[in-house]
Amino acid sequence: MTHPTVRIIRDEHSALSAMLRSIILLLAEHRRRGTLPDFGVLRAMLFYVDEFPERLHHTKESELLFPRVRARSAEANGVLDRLESDHLRGEHAIRYLEHDLLGFEMMGEGADGAIRREQFERSMKQYVDFYLDHMRVEETEVLPLAEKVLTADDWAELDAAFLKNRDPLTGHEPDDAYRPLFKKILMTLAAPIGLGRALEAMAAAGSTEHTHVA
Ligand SMILES: [Fe+2]
Ligand SMILES: [Fe+2]
Repeated sequence: MTHPTVRIIRDEHSALSAMLRSIILLLAEHRRRGTLPDFGVLRAMLFYVDEFPERLHHTKESELLFPRVRARSAEANGVLDRLESDHLRGEHAIRYLEHDLLGFEMMGEGADGAIRREQFERSMKQYVDFYLDHMRVEETEVLPLAEKVLTADDWAELDAAFLKNRDPLTGHEPDDAYRPLFKKILMTLAAPIGLGRALEAMAAAGSTEHTHVA
């Protein structure tokens, strides 16, 4: 049986991967065409990454999952140290990324436009590579060990916590406060990059009329 915690972590990783990969595709497409991206949508995407994966997903891993795994086994201590420092590093990295995006937006049409575009593309690529690797390590090293060593009581507590604050990009209806943000993101992204379930959930709630990126 797959524990809800494991399923939720994998689903949230998939949503974050799809979002991050879509940003890279979007930037490559605009570079190819020599056009500027929709900066409002890019800001919304980075804001989402900061609000959900950075503040909720990583916090639940660092504060709940990792300590329980450490308490049952010392086998992954080195890996968990690295993953925890990744979580801290990610909080800083998103700030730099937002600054580089602003630089591209504010200076993109000026004399330094090409440099600012390159700077943001490079920062974004580094961030995406960093997080894809981070999630891969969690899925291949931490989750299998957790499934081996955690007790039924451990899982009951973890499942209760992980079932709260669900990421709307994994197909769960967003809170009213977040609905405009997700509508903005989902109108640009679409099913082909793996966010179909989130779109369907919002469409079922009568809240979206999405369009695809050309
Ligand atoms: Fe993590
Ligand atoms: Fe994670």
